[in-house]
Amino acid sequence: MCAETARKKVSLGDLYQKMSKGEMISMLTCYDYPTATFMEQAQVDILLVGDSLGMTVLGYDSTLPVTMEMMIPHAQAVRRGSPNAWLVGDMPYMTYQPSTESAIRNAGRFMAEAACDCVKLEGGLEMVERVQGIVRSGIPVMGHLGLTPQSASALGGFRVQGRSAAQAKQIVDAAKALEDAGVFAILLEMVPNRVCQLITERSGVPIISLGSGPHAHGQLLIFHDMFGLYPKFTPKMAKVYGNAGEVIVNGLKAYVADVTSKRFPQPENWFNMKDEQFEELKKLLS
Ligand code: KIV
Repeated sequence: MCAETARKKVSLGDLYQKMSKGEMISMLTCYDYPTATFMEQAQVDILLVGDSLGMTVLGYDSTLPVTMEMMIPHAQAVRRGSPNAWLVGDMPYMTYQPSTESAIRNAGRFMAEAACDCVKLEGGLEMVERVQGIVRSGIPVMGHLGLTPQSASALGGFRVQGRSAAQAKQIVDAAKALEDAGVFAILLEMVPNRVCQLITERSGVPIISLGSGPHAHGQLLIFHDMFGLYPKFTPKMAKVYGNAGEVIVNGLKAYVADVTSKRFPQPENWFNMKDEQFEELKKLLS
């Protein structure tokens, strides 16, 4: 039990219980310690240390440059800030595609080094063997279908997937194959609402929607999109809950003005020394 929030650690059983009771699962991306403490207070069920940090935090144009060496310290920081959320380590590009062995080794790093509860990887039928290998090693896996950003080039960019019946059928089939391979949940990113509903109705594991409509077992948003913290754009699927970016820019401008005009610092912002100590210091220096 965490004293600050008085919630117990979220378990796989809790997530399945929510699904079976028809209660929605809340999921957000999280990349750092302070934000994780906020999410712990808000009792978010699932935190995803997404490789989207390559874009939102590190400023790359895609998630492809992200490595395990970048992901692990972020996952560790999030775990320190949120001891009780169900924590997902997102497997970066080319850490699982080359072989089942590389997939198991890198998934194991998230569990051993960052105390994650599971990993997430992108892809459908072609990933069945990887999923089976990781699950057999005792590590829960979340699947990710629809828009899979690591394949954005092959998918024609960051666009909705599964608008045609044929493409939608591929996603439905992939969801079934991943479930049969042993994933504990599937994230559906940017697929049409009706396709998400259909998959959710047929699924035995929780389906989480990112921009795929309300008919899923849970919802995911990218934290930076919710609070105006990603300067390049805000996607249509995001709901903006506040403009923290604007608050920060206004604060920074006020700071620069204060420093320039010598209004900062004030006595409450500095530290004093007793007169006798200062006199002694002057003597020591003379
Ligand atoms: O990296 C990430 O944050 C993700 C989401 C876009 C689903 O994979």
